[in-house]
Amino acid sequence: MDLLVKLYDLPPAEPAIEKITEFGARLHRPFGPEKAAVVDWVTEKFGARWGSEADMAFAGGNPVSAFTALDPGDAIIGFACYNTTFKGFFGPTGVDDGWRGKGIGTALLLRSLHALREDGHAYGIIGFSALDEFYESIVGAIPIPDSDPGAYGGRIKIT
Ligand SMILES: CC(C)(COP(=O)(O)OP(=O)(O)OC[C@H]1O[C@@H](n2cnc3c(N)ncnc32)[C@H](O)[C@@H]1OP(=O)(O)O)[C@@H](O)C(=O)NCCC(=O)NCCS
Repeated sequence: MDLLVKLYDLPPAEPAIEKITEFGARLHRPFGPEKAAVVDWVTEKFGARWGSEADMAFAGGNPVSAFTALDPGDAIIGFACYNTTFKGFFGPTGVDDGWRGKGIGTALLLRSLHALREDGHAYGIIGFSALDEFYESIVGAIPIPDSDPGAYGGRIKIT
């Protein structure tokens, strides 16, 4: 199901972004030369469908509509996209197994939703949420009735 988020009533992103520096992690908005590295990482960790959506984040011009999380050696450990599958949508997002539970997913989510707000949207949509509790607890997201499969219906079968 899709979820609706009030972008005009978001918690600030800065505390979450600051918190992950305790672990040596940081957020980084990728740019053109990093496209292959980001798309390859997302595809390897989360599959071709999400890799394709990450690719779309680089298709709309600058700035790229994605953020990455980097470890102390500047390797990718997480990502989040917005405005990729549909305008105004957040996702996909993912954090490397070994880095979960440290607030990185929260920092990526909040930074991306603030970017959507700065892009002129009043409401954001979490597309095809698999983790309603995660989004509800961080940004008060609420389910959109009858939105499954919603805009994602009639897809090509990808094995
Ligand atoms: C979802 C995901 C990005 C969260 O990343 P993370 O860095 O572990 O998230 P955080 O550390 O910021 O967690 C924030 C809160 O959400 C909770 N949470 C994290 N993952 C959760 C999950 N899968 N289900 C329910 N709650 C979850 C955490 O317990 C934490 O709660 P707390 O603050 O009370 O401790 C990560 O688990 C992931 O990559 N999952 C696989 C991909 C995926 O499902 N993406 C989302 C598709 S809609």
